[in-house]
Amino acid sequence: MSSRKRRPVIAGNWKMNMTPSQAKEFISELYDKVKGKRGCDIVVCVPAIDIPAVVKACAGKSIKVGAQNVHFEKSGAYTGEISADMLTDAGVKYVVIGHSERRQYFGETDDTVNKRTKAAVAAGLTAIVCVGEVLAEREAGITSEVVSRQVKLALLGLAAEDMSKIIIAYEPVWAIGTGKTATAEQAEEVCALIRNVIAEKYGKQTAKETIVQYGGSMNAKNAAELLAMENIDGGLIGGASLKAADFSVIVEAAQ
Ligand code: 13P
Repeated sequence: MSSRKRRPVIAGNWKMNMTPSQAKEFISELYDKVKGKRGCDIVVCVPAIDIPAVVKACAGKSIKVGAQNVHFEKSGAYTGEISADMLTDAGVKYVVIGHSERRQYFGETDDTVNKRTKAAVAAGLTAIVCVGEVLAEREAGITSEVVSRQVKLALLGLAAEDMSKIIIAYEPVWAIGTGKTATAEQAEEVCALIRNVIAEKYGKQTAKETIVQYGGSMNAKNAAELLAMENIDGGLIGGASLKAADFSVIVEAAQ
């Protein structure tokens, strides 16, 4: 399964940062630094309230807009929630699903990750599905079990054709926001495992074409080494995506 034909996707996950006005300014600063860099897809996954401002600021530019969550029902009495149709209508192309912070603080489960992924794909969004082990699981030697299980449950009921709309982001929880990055070898090992799970389920061709990202303290210094690995097709970047200079270095590393 050695193919460098996959186009990398470099996605920023802003988490709960930036007001709409700050977002607007940030996009113009970022675009100055990344325009002309056509070797990867560039995505910013922004707070829901920022979506209109960011979609407007990104119009006609090579930066695509993502959300950080989506509800799985089409519509109805779900106060505070946002549907996939609302996101697409607003100009959103990507959505992060099952981030560890949502699993940890907001009751996200493998089952709701699966439902959200189905809803996102059905609406034409590209789902960035996050998986990853916590430190205790890594130390117990069960990383592969945990990650395979998360991937399999996230993809239940989805078909091989859906995989062109699904990105798997491997984010070891112990590496998120801690400054403690997985080594390129550790990240590669799990990303390769994820690709194998996809190969078993959908066949080698689909696995070869699926985008698998790494996330967890990826920054301007370590991005090139991580992105050089055979099975790492991009990054999901938190902290460093909030600094235009750092994020653009990561984009450059993916060229
Ligand atoms: P950091 O890059 O801040 O570690 O966050 C990673 C992440 O959670 C991206 O979704």
